[in-house]
Amino acid sequence: MGYQSIMNSQGVILWLTGLSGAGKTTIAKGVAQELLTRNWRVELLDGDVVRSNLSQGLGFSKEDRDTNIRRIGFVANLLSRNGVVAIVAAITPYRSIRDELRRTTTNFVEVYVQASLAVCESRDVKGLYVQARAGKIKNFTGISDPYEEPLNPEITCMTEKFTIEQCVSQVVNYLHRQEYIVI
Ligand code: ADX
Repeated sequence: MGYQSIMNSQGVILWLTGLSGAGKTTIAKGVAQELLTRNWRVELLDGDVVRSNLSQGLGFSKEDRDTNIRRIGFVANLLSRNGVVAIVAAITPYRSIRDELRRTTTNFVEVYVQASLAVCESRDVKGLYVQARAGKIKNFTGISDPYEEPLNPEITCMTEKFTIEQCVSQVVNYLHRQEYIVI
């Protein structure tokens, strides 16, 4: 029997913010995997995936991004209040909406997945930076749209300095230390 089934778990929202290519999805998947093997109930809400269903049709204006984020926040809150570890990986570029999430949800943990624009651009995992530089994608975060760095995140994962495994441990250890999970 996993610990969660014998404890009244409080749930938590783990919100990963950062530039495209910083490593949000990879870390989110790693944390999810780690917690699943320990029998925790976990759900992953990834920006790219949400945008192909719940937020289908939304673009990348500030208004549309905020709508996207509010929808994800709503679902994450439903999950976490039922004891689930809700892990979100979405750029979430605006400080105001992140502050709103913090105010309107419980157990909100902001994780800044940090890598410089130059490094994200050189990784260019999806080939989008090249297109953004060529002007083929408008309002691209970091190139032609802002990314407002978190001022006071609970966790900063520096993906240029540390491996994915180290970043995953950093997050899991935090959850443990704050007693969101029992390892
Ligand atoms: S958010 O700003 O609303 O939080 P979200 O994380 O859901 O963004 O979606 C970002 C993903 O959409 C990126 O990983 C990238 O694959 C894709 N994308 C397409 N156009 C853009 C754009 N203009 N800016 C940022 N990401 C974009």
